[in-house]
This record gives sequence, structure tokens and C-alpha cells, in this order.
Amino acid sequence: MIILGIETSCDETAVAIVENGKKILANEVSSQIKFHSKYGGVIPELASRKQIELMNPILEEAQKHAGVNWSDIDAVAVTSNPGLIGSLLVGISTAKALAYLFNVPLCEVDHVEAHLYANFLDDRSVINHSTTIEMPFIGLVVSGGHTSLFLVKGHRDIELLGKTRDDAAGEAFDKVAKLLGLPYPGGPEIERLAKKGNPEKIKFPRPYLHGSYDFSFSGLKTAVAYYLRDAVCSMQHAVDTELKADISAGFQEAVVETLVYKTIKTAKKKGIGRIALGGGVVANNRLRSFFKEESEKSGMELFIPSTELCLDNAAMVACRAYYKK
Ligand code: KG4
Ligand code: ZN
Repeated sequence: MIILGIETSCDETAVAIVENGKKILANEVSSQIKFHSKYGGVIPELASRKQIELMNPILEEAQKHAGVNWSDIDAVAVTSNPGLIGSLLVGISTAKALAYLFNVPLCEVDHVEAHLYANFLDDRSVINHSTTIEMPFIGLVVSGGHTSLFLVKGHRDIELLGKTRDDAAGEAFDKVAKLLGLPYPGGPEIERLAKKGNPEKIKFPRPYLHGSYDFSFSGLKTAVAYYLRDAVCSMQHAVDTELKADISAGFQEAVVETLVYKTIKTAKKKGIGRIALGGGVVANNRLRSFFKEESEKSGMELFIPSTELCLDNAAMVACRAYYKK
């Protein structure tokens, strides 16, 4: 079964063609990052207009790369929620029109769940590459808008255990980057600076929210803001690169430790020995290595998609639709 996937929930226009929920025939992503970075974040109105512009060329590219005819497509999958409404509408309208034109079923997919399905695709990462993921597993999605913990028992039995109460982890990365004067998106910038810093120097709070599966990162972001304010007052001059690096390293360590600790604790509590990750923040190498260390210590199987498949893409959307059928 060949599924055409479409993803337009934020500032990426993505089209993929996936065979049997596994083999990626094409996976095209056009990012608008350069376009939005001058504003320090995504401007929804501009994002949706750009989606309209980019959709047709990306569709054609995907078809060419996959080497299939449009008549080979058996179903069309599209992200229908959550996301920026104007951007979502471009993808949904395109998908509806194509499903009608090809006379095939249309499958609406939840973007956050789709991030977990990157683990079912063929070119899954380094980690557990040869093993096929089985159920049940604990799924953690860490993206710009969501930090969600799932208990996945079946393709139609996905229980949301906990979610963000305020800022998602990616949002906290982006906002802390802004406080440090770094460009958007902040996650990769913080990771780059953190490599030069000492994660032990500044001990920021770990928001564990003991007794709850939920997450909360806005307090941690505020702790960074106060630390910066006090540092500027005491030094009487602007923050230098060395201090920015230590703040980045300390902040990144606090986010990563919280995510790893809570996920492994949840898996143990539920008696499940398998964890799968997804979402843009999972591109972070400190998060990947820390998860790997801690899951090995706990004897748990860990699944992490390749960096490319952690970030927004349409292959995960097509894959989710295949298993929803
Ligand atoms: O999943 P995604 O591509 O889009 C959403 O669904 O939101 O995630 C985007 C988020 C942004 O907040 C970005 O700063 C963060 O992922 N991100 C990272 C890294 N790469 C992207 N955060 C930390 N470290 C990274 N290397
Ligand atoms: Zn996403």
C-alpha cells in the first residue's frame, strides 16, 4: 500500500510517499526557518501564505523522487491537528482535493502521535536499527508545542498519560535562546553553545512534578531569566559568551534530566521495558545520549528516530495513517 503524506502544521511544508508504513520512497521538507528567523519566531499569517506557495512544487518533487505515478497512490494522509490553523488548512485542502481526484481514502492524522510513528519507518536511527518496535511502549514526544507522554498499547489504543501544563520543552529552548540573544529556532543554538559550557556550573531547578505525569518548563525558563538579570546587575556589563555557554549547558541539562527521569520512572511504574521518542527536541544529542545511558542502566529497550525524522516531516504522517487503517 502506497500512502501520500502531507504535513503543514507549522512552518514546514512536507510531502512524503511511503510504502507499507515502512519504506520511504520520498520525504521532501521545505522549511521556512530563514523566512521567519528575522522576526524571532513563526508568524502564523506568513506561514500559511508560504505554505500555499510551496505546496505544489513539493508535491511534484516527491512524486519525481519516489518514481511513482499518481495512479499508484492508495491513500492520502494529512496532519489535521494540532497546529496553526491557517497552515493546517493548506495541507487539509490539498489532501482532500487529491484524495477526491485519485478516488482514494483520506486519512486524518494527529501530529503529536505521528511523531512517535517515525520509529516504525525503515531508516530509523542508529539505536535499535535492526529491531522492529513492538507494543506496548512508553512514548515521549518533545516538540516546539508539545511535551507528551503516552502509553501505547495498540495502534488504536494510545493513552495520553501526561502533557505540558505551560511551556513545551522546545518552546522553553526557543524562549531561553531569545533571552540569550540567539536566533530562532533556539534549540539547535542552545545545543551548540552548551557544548562549550559547563553543565555543573549553574544548577537550574528540575521541574519533576512528583506524583504527576505532566510537564512544566515555564518555571525553569523564568529561573534562567532571573539568573541573567542578577548576573547583568552584579557584573555591570553585558553577558559574555562564556557565561551564555554555561547558562545554555545548565539549562539543557535541567530539561534533559527532567525528561529522562520522568519517562524512565513512568516506564518502571507501568511495568513496561520499551521507550520510543519523537519530536524536534529529540534531535538534541545530549538528550539522545543521556536517554541511551539511562535506559541501558535500567535494562530498557530504547527507540530513537534519525535526527531528520525527529523534526517535522510527512513520512511519519503517512506511516501513522498506514497503521490506523
Ligand atoms: O517537532 P518540531 O520540528 O516541530 C513541532 O512540532 O513543534 O520541533 C521543533 C522544536 C523547536 O522548539 C526547536 O527549537 C526544537 O524542536 N529543536 C531542538 C533541537 N532541534 C530542534 N531543541 C533542542 N536541541 C536541538 N538540537
Ligand atoms: Zn512536530
